[in-house]
Amino acid sequence: GVTKKILVIPGDGIGQEVTAWGKKVLEAIAANYKHTFSFDEGIMGHVAIEATGNPLPDETLDKARASDAILFGAIGHAKYDNDPTLKVRPEQGLLKIRKELGLYANLRPIKLFDDLLHASSIKPEILQGADILFFRELTGDVYFGEKKRSDDRSSASDLMIYHKYEVERIARKAYEAARTRRKKLCSVDKANVLEASRLWREVVQEVAKDYPDVETEHMFIDNAAMQLIKDPKRFDVVLTGNLFGDILTDEASQIAGSMGMLASASVGDAIGFYEPIHGSAHDITGKGIANPLASILSAALLLDISFGLKEESQRVIRAVDATLRQGFRTMDIANKHTPNELLLGTDAMGAKVLENLN
Ligand code: IPM
Ligand code: MN
Repeated sequence: GVTKKILVIPGDGIGQEVTAWGKKVLEAIAANYKHTFSFDEGIMGHVAIEATGNPLPDETLDKARASDAILFGAIGHAKYDNDPTLKVRPEQGLLKIRKELGLYANLRPIKLFDDLLHASSIKPEILQGADILFFRELTGDVYFGEKKRSDDRSSASDLMIYHKYEVERIARKAYEAARTRRKKLCSVDKANVLEASRLWREVVQEVAKDYPDVETEHMFIDNAAMQLIKDPKRFDVVLTGNLFGDILTDEASQIAGSMGMLASASVGDAIGFYEPIHGSAHDITGKGIANPLASILSAALLLDISFGLKEESQRVIRAVDATLRQGFRTMDIANKHTPNELLLGTDAMGAKVLENLN
């Protein structure tokens, strides 16, 4: 077996509740396959601000650098959403760790489990067979460009900026992935209006020359948002910038039935960082009803991408599939036909997946 160090950062809100299950699944895999996984825990976000005044304390960053992979939960708190004047904010922790660890490529696979075909608000015949892999650039764009506010508070701006090297490195990763899939890549931008997008498109066109076996398409973000629910099957790999990718993947989560199903992997320089795409969900925090499957599927991505443990990763995905086939549902993926006894809370759902792992 392999020996690995995993840092768990539950973060805020339901992050605490769901990450517990991602971790339990990793422990079960270690036991089943005789691997040695050691776990450490770090704080980030609102909980870290409360404890230290800093959304990403140095101690957490040091622990992150010393680990082989990171399992993260969620970030955010209603207090900040309702008060935009607060200067120290939970999200700064997440943005900083992405930048510090060089996590420039955010992979968001959108795959519908067969049994959730009717959980989505999109028609089953539109969804069936959809399988998309998003590459969202994660350390550039308007997220990290210069921020300004005029002294009299009458205007504010965020600079949308991309550097050639930033586009090139993620484009290469996306093309490599497309080669192992259906060999189609759609790059999404707003090159009809934005200069940063025109550079993006130019660079992608250059990189495309090295991948003549992959069919390249360029699409404007507004059109892509529409095509995504009109005909999701037309997409294979989608490559896009930080902001467009943030928006488009929340939309795409509806193809998988719920945000509660979607995992993501952020990779780049060295360490991999794995997290659900959903947020801290203050409205359901502490109620024990959050869907733990996105965290469990994040653990599956971690096993595959950071540790190269493909068989173990598949085993986790099969356990999730089996749990859904047995009819078990959390609230977000239930429908009006789901009988009460199959409607589970976070812990009961996590426990079913563990049973199916063994
Ligand atoms: C995400 C989240 C974050 C983002 C927030 C919490 C900063 O929405 O991971 O998609 O915008 O990147
Ligand atoms: Mn988001």
